[in-house]
Amino acid sequence: MSNIIDGKSIAEEIRTSIKERVSKMKETMNINPSLTVILVGDNPASQVYVRNKERACIEVGIDSNIIRMSEKTSEQELLDTIQKLNEDRSVHGILVQLPLPEQINEDKIIAAIDPNKDVDGFHPINRGKLFAGEKSLEPCTPMGIIRLLDHIGYEIEGKNAVIIGRSNIVGKPVALMLLKRNATVTIVHTRTKDIKSITQTADILVVAVGRAKIVDSSYIKEGAVVIDVGINRLDGKLCGDVDFDDVKDKAGYITPVPRGVGPMTIAMLLENTLTAAEGIK
Ligand code: GUN
Repeated sequence: MSNIIDGKSIAEEIRTSIKERVSKMKETMNINPSLTVILVGDNPASQVYVRNKERACIEVGIDSNIIRMSEKTSEQELLDTIQKLNEDRSVHGILVQLPLPEQINEDKIIAAIDPNKDVDGFHPINRGKLFAGEKSLEPCTPMGIIRLLDHIGYEIEGKNAVIIGRSNIVGKPVALMLLKRNATVTIVHTRTKDIKSITQTADILVVAVGRAKIVDSSYIKEGAVVIDVGINRLDGKLCGDVDFDDVKDKAGYITPVPRGVGPMTIAMLLENTLTAAEGIK
């Protein structure tokens, strides 16, 4: 019987401590931490994400500002907006919600954000620092995954960690973070031969594919920690990349969807905003 990792309540605990840090920062350093989110166009999922981020900021006392730009915004207009925010000393965190409309090159936009304000951890400098194992602003979802493992008191060092998926937002950065914590790390992906023979060796299995319920109990080693990053809609209901009901009795720990990794991502965004406001160098 596995333990279900309650990401929602763990994230709530983290947000409570962030709220205290924010008020201390306001009192002792006279800094009002602030996050500006840029939303280009009207992608419905992005609108929901941005609203949730704003709500979370308000709840902990972080100043939140959303800049909404039209679907037809040019790359130059967006670059100019970012430049102004880079120069504005009252703005500590900048997040450009992805995806962007096709006339805008995402890599160029991410590279234009001041790396010290890059609360997504997507800037090439922050990615390079993560690669080198140096301190940096790190991507929020992978940070949230490590924090969940720490919260349940799981010893990462020396364990076999397998990640299904090689995205720049989740798969690759979480692999580097687990490596930094001395796990033995394998990434498997669409071209991997015999995925199951590898996932069956995993003490920690992170699934970040984006396809509903593709991982069933035949992928899992008895007692493994299973972290499900997927958010999919199936028959009108949210579900993960893992077939929860099939896996839950075989895994040692498992994250549900919803109430698993998702709430941790926003909590880590708040934490990165504080880190940016404190000014890590
Ligand atoms: N769209 C989906 N996930 C993310 C994310 O983590 N950051 C940004 N900026 N956009 C996203």
